[in-house]
Amino acid sequence: MEQTKLSEQPLSPWPWQIKLSDVSFDLAVMSQQLKDFSRSCYLVNHTEKGFGISQQASLIDTRCFESEKTSFSANSVGKEDYSPCFPVSAFAPALGTQSLGDHYFRRVHGVKYAYYAGSMANGISSEELVITLGKAGILCSFGAGGLVQERVEQAIIRIQTALPNGPYAFNLLHSPNEPAMEKSSVALFLKHKVRTVEASAFLGLTPQIVHYRAAGLSRDANGQICITNKVIAKVSRVEVATHFMQPAPVKILQGLVDEGLISAEQMLLAQKVPMADDITAEADSGGHTDNRPLVTLLPTLLALRDSIQSEYQYLTPLRVGAGGGIGTPDAALAAFNMGAAYIVTGSVNQACVEAGASEHTRQLLSTTEMADVTMAPAADMFEMGVKLQVVKRGTFFPMRANKLYDIYSRYDAIEDIPIDEREKLESQIFRSSLEDIWQGTVSFFNERDPKVLERAMGHPKRKMALIFRWYLGLSSRWSNIGEAGREMDYQIWAGPALGAFNQWAKGSYLDDYKARHAVDIAKHLLYGAAYLNRINHLCAQGVNLPVTLRRWLPDKKMA
Ligand SMILES: Cc1cc2nc3c(=O)[nH]c(=O)nc-3n(C[C@H](O)[C@H](O)[C@H](O)COP(=O)(O)O)c2cc1C
Repeated sequence: MEQTKLSEQPLSPWPWQIKLSDVSFDLAVMSQQLKDFSRSCYLVNHTEKGFGISQQASLIDTRCFESEKTSFSANSVGKEDYSPCFPVSAFAPALGTQSLGDHYFRRVHGVKYAYYAGSMANGISSEELVITLGKAGILCSFGAGGLVQERVEQAIIRIQTALPNGPYAFNLLHSPNEPAMEKSSVALFLKHKVRTVEASAFLGLTPQIVHYRAAGLSRDANGQICITNKVIAKVSRVEVATHFMQPAPVKILQGLVDEGLISAEQMLLAQKVPMADDITAEADSGGHTDNRPLVTLLPTLLALRDSIQSEYQYLTPLRVGAGGGIGTPDAALAAFNMGAAYIVTGSVNQACVEAGASEHTRQLLSTTEMADVTMAPAADMFEMGVKLQVVKRGTFFPMRANKLYDIYSRYDAIEDIPIDEREKLESQIFRSSLEDIWQGTVSFFNERDPKVLERAMGHPKRKMALIFRWYLGLSSRWSNIGEAGREMDYQIWAGPALGAFNQWAKGSYLDDYKARHAVDIAKHLLYGAAYLNRINHLCAQGVNLPVTLRRWLPDKKMA
């Protein structure tokens, strides 16, 4: 079969032509033109020079292409202009980051981008992280999980002072073992008028999350429902997503009315709005994860959203965003192209200078590869066998934590553990006698939630779980504060997104962990996604751009 020569056939039927004098064939100039999202790009396929780009074009003149090399166009004053013209082979519109995601997300949260940095427990998503991102118009959720109320309150005050008009969010973490924590978190958020929470780890709806949502409902002067307390529900299961996409259950609402926590009017309004404004489909990620691939989870939740939205006809349509595995501009674009209303990152932010992670941990994170992560038991849901994703290179934590879970599964009480096994635990993992650890655990929970201790009394297996959770709880703290001598026990949550990011950043200024800043990284992901979108659009029209133009690399810090 005869091959078609590209130069003899325009690749696309665009009705424009470009003057040769406006076209750049220089790679460096073309790269700048492609990165300038404020202007469209028109590509010409020149017989000798190959592809070139112009940022302007005029409507095609039928007389243009009568001779192969010379054509003409009318200039603005109607005079004939005999400079050579070429037909436009491919076109990319002037679309930048504003074209990515749902504009309602940006408007409702008062942010510049359809992006947020997810909560990272124990203040890893620190005040610095929330404030720096917030000042750049990017939403970040403070990592309230695992912190005592006084510490969270300090963070609220500091963040609200720095960002009086937002954007910021706080994590409302479901705590099946410590319901008192969830209740006091909601009380704290309501007291300080925290207007956005990222609700996560929920298995269903609890009176606490319903209280937060319903307590912020009212009607304005026109009778429109005002949603003051915004909920971003991060889920990885269809059942949980369904609860958050629907209005709050009447039974829970009635209970809250009976307790005097919400009004009868708020109960009525709550039946007209979804439980959450945004549903984050969280795929394989750092920390707690169901390890679902984004390409399966996101479309499933988008379809669920469509069916629930068409059933309830909410005035502001439900939004579904994507998190988990996003560490490169390519991954960000893939999520947007699948229909994500916004994207969420986590692992890449922990490696940033603003994160509440120690220098040792951040340095280790900057060298973590995609296969350097594994699953290990989670402190908060240890007894249920729940696991989370952590770094496995440069620390023994996953091995040791899995050992503890193995022992917990085999024995019913500390006293049942064979003596040699127990001695190994005491010398290698706890570096103390298990009795001493238990005493420390008692004082900890006496202060934090004495009910946990009550439940363990007379239940030796629960007592064993609390002792083992001492190690699981402290090991992440050690990683955050940089506890000297405990480096090999650091529990560092991270997902494969980090390895992908490190691979992408290899050889660039971002290789250096000290140069990683959360705003810069967010912008690289978003501007990179917009750039790749442009490139893909041109390639889909048959343009075979040089490799150097086809990638978005971190060659310089974003402004
Ligand atoms: C260090 C770390 C701690 C995290 N802690 C929490 C948390 O306390 N609450 C929460 O909702 N999500 C938590 N996450 C999940 C992130 O908010 C985010 O959803 C996730 O990291 C996105 O996936 P990625 O890690 O692939 O970027 C954590 C993630 C990491 C890496």
